[in-house]
Amino acid sequence: MTRSRTRVKGTLLLGDDHGSIALAGVIIRRGGLVAFPTETVYGLGASAVNPVAVRQIFAAKGRPSDNPLIVHIAELAQLDEVACSVPDNAYRLIDLFWPGPLSLVLQRRTGVIPPEVSAGLKTVAVRMPDHRAALDLIRSANVPIAAPSANRSGRPSPTAYWHVLEDLTGKIDAVLKSSTCSIGLESTVLDLTGLHPVILRPGGVSREELEKALGCPVLLAGQYKASTAPASPGMKYRHYSPRAPLILIAGPQSRRRLLIEAIAENSRRRGLMVGLLSSAIDGALPDHLSPEEIAAHLYGVLRQMDQRGVNLILAEETESKGLGLAVMNRLRKAAARVLKV
Ligand code: TXA
Ligand code: MG
Repeated sequence: MTRSRTRVKGTLLLGDDHGSIALAGVIIRRGGLVAFPTETVYGLGASAVNPVAVRQIFAAKGRPSDNPLIVHIAELAQLDEVACSVPDNAYRLIDLFWPGPLSLVLQRRTGVIPPEVSAGLKTVAVRMPDHRAALDLIRSANVPIAAPSANRSGRPSPTAYWHVLEDLTGKIDAVLKSSTCSIGLESTVLDLTGLHPVILRPGGVSREELEKALGCPVLLAGQYKASTAPASPGMKYRHYSPRAPLILIAGPQSRRRLLIEAIAENSRRRGLMVGLLSSAIDGALPDHLSPEEIAAHLYGVLRQMDQRGVNLILAEETESKGLGLAVMNRLRKAAARVLKV
């Protein structure tokens, strides 16, 4: 546990001890903004029942106002405050995956959760994070907490408290300093309001796990006609982007590695600093990394490459299975170009 308190440009840096979390809870309850750790990425929290505080989240992040937020709860009893008409399949998933990296899109409880949280949609995304400090914060604030990832909009999500400080120092009231996030990619956003369950954003719980739990196919947004399910507004933005252009190279392993080596060589000859998200040659990643290992380091490595002034990032495709689907989703969104060999 970290117990420390300092202030940088008006932002209070708190530890994750009991006293600090109690103070952070008071800040949230009074309408302030607190960044806090979860098992996926750091979130930027405000009281989900306070529309003024929720609007401040959008301002601090520079987030488009049509992109809804996820509401975080600590007890199953809070689900009823946030959502209504919760279907049976939601409870099956809650049983298996909460607390955990699964956000369920359900009917929003209007009159309690203001439209600002959901960018005016009739639905609301809800999750129970699997992180002691996050759960303690929600309990201490005694309100559900609306929280997007705690980065400036468009930047890679923060997986360490110093990433939050890089983006939001001076713009938010407090940051809860804790360990780095164990999963490193955001939660799966699953829409349960339509005829079929639809993954709006792949994440910490895999499509395979969801299909096994529900005993039915789970669709992926983008693989069906737009009219059959509501879209996740956030997915239309280019996201998760480092400052340097990222080229994603897809195709059979041996061929994509040859291409990476050729582009890297050529770019270096032209004086460019190249960052490799690849296990080819001297890439940043060792060979045979699991999707879990890639996920845990991806955003941090992208931020490091920016800090080192890398001019071009070459990233290698990974298998779209399990957590690999989320890894590939983020790489595609970060990519300026995709090259297929
Ligand atoms: O792991 C996570 O989900 C992290 C941590 C902090 O919990 N949060 C996170 O929030 O990634 P954010 O705001 O960066 O991404 C939320 C995603 C966006 O793509 C948004 O469009 C979608 O969830 N979303 C939220 N509410 C929705 C709704 N009612 N209907 C459809 N999509 C929704
Ligand atoms: Mg985000």
